[in-house]
Amino acid sequence: MNKNSENISGWKKFMKSITKAHELGTEEDIMLDHDYDGIKELDNVLPPWWLAGFYITIAISIFYYTQVFFNSEKYSQKEEFATEVAEGKAAIEAYKEANPQLFDDSNIVALTDEESIAKGKELFASKTCTACHLVDLGGSIGPNLTDNHWVLGGGVKNIYNTISKGGRPGKGMIAWESTISRDERILLASYIISMQGTAPATPKAAEGDIIWPAE
Ligand code: HEC
Repeated sequence: MNKNSENISGWKKFMKSITKAHELGTEEDIMLDHDYDGIKELDNVLPPWWLAGFYITIAISIFYYTQVFFNSEKYSQKEEFATEVAEGKAAIEAYKEANPQLFDDSNIVALTDEESIAKGKELFASKTCTACHLVDLGGSIGPNLTDNHWVLGGGVKNIYNTISKGGRPGKGMIAWESTISRDERILLASYIISMQGTAPATPKAAEGDIIWPAE
C-alpha cells in the first residue's frame, strides 16, 4: 500500500465515522417495508456530524435561556443599553469640557472672511431662509434683515440665538438648532451681519424696536 492509498482509506474511515453511511450494496439490510409505487425507503441512521450540531444548539439554547432569563442583571439588554447611553453621555461631557469654545455661545464672533460669507449666503438659500426673508434679505413673511431695526435683537450673538431658538411663538420663525449645525448657524448669522446696510430691491418696512448699529 502506498502512502496515497493509506490517506484515502484514512479519509474514508473518517467519513464513515462522521456519516455512519450504510455500506453500498447492502441496502437490503435496512430496507423498510414501505413501498410507494415502487419507491422504497431505507432506515438510515442520523449522521453523527449532524447530530453533534443539533446537540450543540440545544446546549447553547439552554445556556442562553438561563443567562437571559435568570441572570438578567448581567445580560439584560436594558442594562446594556443604559450602560452604553451613560458611557456615551459621559463621553459627550468629557468632549465638551475639553473643547469649551465649541459649546460656549457667549463668545461667538461674526466671521468676516469672504469664504465664510459665501458659505453663509449659500446656506441662507439652501436652508430655505430665502422663502421668508428673500434672497436679498429684504423680507416678506419674515422681517427685513438688512436694516438696523430688530424684533429680537441685532448683533451676531442675538442673531445666532434667534436662528438657534427661533422667534416668538406662532410668528413662523422656528428654532433651527436641531436641523442646522452650530457652525452653520454661525455662518448664517455672519452672513446676515455682512448684509447690514445693503439695499434690497423691495425692502419690507422696518419692524422691531431694537435699534442695533451695524457691526
Ligand atoms: C417660515 C418663514 C421663515 C423662515 C423659513 C425663516 N424665517 Fe427667520 N423669521 C421669520 C419671521 C416671521 C421672523 C420674525 C419672528 C418674530 O417676530 O418673533 C423671523 C425672524 C428672523 C430673525 C430675527 C429678525 C429680527 O428682527 O430680530 C433672523 C435673524 C432670522 N429670522 C433668520 C432666519 C434664518 C437664518 C433662516 C433660515 C435658517 C430663517 N430666518 C428662516 C420667518 C422665517
